Amino acid sequence: MPFWWKRAVRREPPADLFPQQEPGPLASSAIMDDRERLPDAPYFLPKDAQEQNRLNFQHRCLYSAIGNHYLVPLRPDVTTILDVGTGTGIWPVEMARLFPQAHIVGVDISAASLEFTSSSSYTFCLADVLKGLPFPDQQFDYVHQRLLVAALPATQWPSVIQELVRVTRPGGWIELLEIGVTIQQAGPETTHLLTWMGERSRERGFDMGLMSRLGEMLAQQGLEAIERQDIPVPLGEWAGHVGAMLKANVLSAFDALKGVYCTQANMPLGQFEAMVNRVAQEWEEHHASYVFHAAYGRRGKR
Ligand SMILES: C[S@@+](CC[C@H](N)C(=O)[O-])C[C@H]1O[C@@H](n2cnc3c(N)ncnc32)[C@H](O)[C@@H]1O
Repeated sequence: MPFWWKRAVRREPPADLFPQQEPGPLASSAIMDDRERLPDAPYFLPKDAQEQNRLNFQHRCLYSAIGNHYLVPLRPDVTTILDVGTGTGIWPVEMARLFPQAHIVGVDISAASLEFTSSSSYTFCLADVLKGLPFPDQQFDYVHQRLLVAALPATQWPSVIQELVRVTRPGGWIELLEIGVTIQQAGPETTHLLTWMGERSRERGFDMGLMSRLGEMLAQQGLEAIERQDIPVPLGEWAGHVGAMLKANVLSAFDALKGVYCTQANMPLGQFEAMVNRVAQEWEEHHASYVFHAAYGRRGKR
């Protein structure tokens, strides 16, 4: 029995759900640009307690905005679910409540922000999706990947989706949900900041603009029955509770990115903060909404 399965004893897992290889060592973290980050991975958001709180808050914010934890037409008897880049583990834990008969595996390159550890219905596993997932082919009924825009360089998206397809059962579903650079009712300050941030991320090999093309990327890997959803979520106190939550989350994410981008562009932190203050004011004046991009598709029956 692989070590990562030992704590998941109450529910009998599917016999073939074992990793093919031992997961690699924990990605090391280091203080960079004032926050703890993963220096050996392309991922450029922090991995510290502050970011852990933000991820849990963001999860609540998305649930308030969308009203569910998933979009695919899941059968109630789904048995195996994979969450790629699981973060704190909050998504698998809440899905386990909704689907008590299922076993859910969360993988992440680092356990540094893991808050919800393995249980009888949920197993955490260290894995770097850029190097391949430690599972045999066709293991999961449903593969979910959310908010890895700052983790996957643009050129790697096709091979990562191919890897998600590999571990999905014929007839199973893959769902991707991301945030990119689409803000509706964006004023000039917001457009300027998004363009600036887009340029910085492109310098690092990332493309936030790709996130509006998740459906196309799923189609390129041969998935069927593809559905795309652009989900505008109000951004600002002008829209009440959900808008205030998303605004707090986005400002916290900008703060998490500030050190990296300012170091890269040789910009004083204060200049970036002033830009963000103006942008936040603009969201209230223009009644802005940030668009989440989602797409899901089914693996053919072969
Ligand atoms: C922004 S967080 C999103 C967490 C979670 N999906 C959610 O929606 O709350 C991105 C997560 O992906 C993880 N990650 C980054 N690069 C990864 C990789 N190459 N393989 C697996 N996980 C990775 C990070 O450690 C982080 O926990």
